[in-house]
Amino acid sequence: MRSVLQTDEIRIDSWLSEAEERCLANDVLDGLTRPFKELAPKHFYDARGSELFEQICELPEYYPTRAETEILTSCAPEIVRRTGAGELVELGCGATDKARLLLDAMDHAGTLCRYVPLDVSESVVEEAARELVESYDGLKVYGVIGDFERHLERIPPGAGSARLIALLGGTIGNFPPGTRRALLRKIGALLGPRDRLLLGTDLVKDPAIIEAAYDDREGITAEFNRNVLHVINRELDADFSPHGFDHVAYYDRRHEWVEMRLRAIRPCSVLIADLGLRVEFAAGEELRTEISAKFTRPRLEADFEAAGLALDRWFTDEQQRFAVSLASRAEA
Ligand code: SAH
Ligand code: TRP
Repeated sequence: MRSVLQTDEIRIDSWLSEAEERCLANDVLDGLTRPFKELAPKHFYDARGSELFEQICELPEYYPTRAETEILTSCAPEIVRRTGAGELVELGCGATDKARLLLDAMDHAGTLCRYVPLDVSESVVEEAARELVESYDGLKVYGVIGDFERHLERIPPGAGSARLIALLGGTIGNFPPGTRRALLRKIGALLGPRDRLLLGTDLVKDPAIIEAAYDDREGITAEFNRNVLHVINRELDADFSPHGFDHVAYYDRRHEWVEMRLRAIRPCSVLIADLGLRVEFAAGEELRTEISAKFTRPRLEADFEAAGLALDRWFTDEQQRFAVSLASRAEA
């Protein structure tokens, strides 16, 4: 563990180190030697990737952020009233806008005590901590820089009040179905009897609306997608030409998920020097960089059940584009 920051109100621990580079190296080695090449999405989020994602959230085509914000704006007080929560643990926190809606509700209810952001991106955890202690008197922030697939046990035990463990932004949809259930089960293991999971999921809808959300006219999503190649170039001494790849967003109707891909415009040969690996791309060959699953209520209930969780409340926006669910550990 490396201590990143320690003040009266803030403590930030990092669990990422050289091990992280090994994780990127292993993921790249696995992913680029498969018959259908693919990469794990968490490697998008270096400082530039996080910045680009924040720009995506402002795009007219990217409705999920606005829909989820609409839900939290109207439902946060009810969520806090039902749970009595005074602590928010946010996995993959990103920017602070959504956390504020929940923290405001806790503040009004008089329960607010602590915020625990966890993210692989060091910059977002630090910014969140600094901004929020300025906004809320007496708030403690315990930040964890880590990977929620590997470092959930680094989340500190509850500070005393009921906790909300939030995974927002549709991030759960970025995991394929089996991994998704395993992750939900691991998150569920953090829940005490009074604690609740707060999960944001994008919903199945007209594919044209979904594809536009992942392929905006300004090309910000395309830059975000290509950023993973910049990360590999920098971290593993590779020589990808990011602009030799087109951004592709494809809605798979059978699986009901959207896939982000990078398609080689011309044949190319890439050297990943740190891995001693040469990778060939044929013209038009695609590299899958992310899936984002779209949900229905029965699908989510089935996932919860398989993960030992139970749906307590289901909130949607006016247009039913997005859902925020409150879930608890199912009785054994
Ligand atoms: N919750 C925010 C951000 C969503 S983007 C919102 O709703 O807008 C996904 C966030 O999760 C990014 O900040 C990214 O850095 C983080 N993230 C992605 N994979 C992660 C992982 N495996 N472990 C921890 N954080 C991760
Ligand atoms: N969790 C976000 C989502 O599934 C991540 C995301 C949004 C994303 N836009 C993207 C990932 C574009 C890759 C490319 O909606």
